[in-house]
Amino acid sequence: MQKIVVLNPKGGSGKTTITTNLVSSLVCAGTKPALIDLDPQGSSTRWLANRPASLASVSGIEGYAQSLQVTKTWLLRTPEHCDLAVIDTPAALSRSDLISATRGADAILIPVMPSDIDIHAAMKCISDLLLVAKVRRPDKKIGIVANRVRTNTRVYAKLQKFLASLDIPLIATLRDSQNYIRAFEFGMGIHEMPYSQVKKDLEAWESITNWLQKLRENAQKYPAAIHLLRS
Ligand SMILES: Nc1ncnc2c1ncn2[C@@H]1O[C@H](COP(=O)(O)OP(=O)(O)OP(=O)(O)O)[C@@H](O)[C@H]1O
Ligand SMILES: [Mg+2]
Repeated sequence: MQKIVVLNPKGGSGKTTITTNLVSSLVCAGTKPALIDLDPQGSSTRWLANRPASLASVSGIEGYAQSLQVTKTWLLRTPEHCDLAVIDTPAALSRSDLISATRGADAILIPVMPSDIDIHAAMKCISDLLLVAKVRRPDKKIGIVANRVRTNTRVYAKLQKFLASLDIPLIATLRDSQNYIRAFEFGMGIHEMPYSQVKKDLEAWESITNWLQKLRENAQKYPAAIHLLRS
């Protein structure tokens, strides 16, 4: 089962928005994701509760009811029919929670907003992932999603420069769009909204799902090599 963690200890960077829209896009593509909510705020769980019965159902697990130290237990509780798990995490993760939440992750998506404060917070987050959680850079499983972006701004150029210097890929750039706010309210992702309304936003999501698909294929093709690299 592919484990995708959406993480950034900076509050309000877009973790829940990316989690819920990723789950919705995966469901629309015919996969069966489980949504694991590790945030005591329970925003992803609320989204799930608002999901119309007419849409494809998603299995949800309220992981925050337990200690973050037992991440594996939630994965064991993931229903058998699910082929991947998308994990929403809280802001202000402690070092030990960061380690627990990312243990065994196949992909780590970090939403970053293009502002000076957020770029600095992201720098700290990436360095903690590499140095504290011991995520190996050659595994290439960390991807950045620039969120609420207005391109052609100075600060967006700064974000791009910062990422290039770290050799961490910028997977996608999401617009600042009311579509995300509306979709959340109705328990949907933008993939489940009228095409004419969201067509400008869909391309970015294709980049995210393609990146995840590539990681999945590589893990299937080279499981032994990846195991060796991790050990
Ligand atoms: N691309 C976007 N366009 C417009 N609004 C957005 C976008 N991404 C997020 N938002 C809005 O920004 C706010 C914060 O987003 P979100 O709740 O996803 O962040 P978070 O990282 O999960 O926050 P927290 O750290 O509190 O859990 C929400 O009101 C959400 O609707
Ligand atoms: Mg959240």
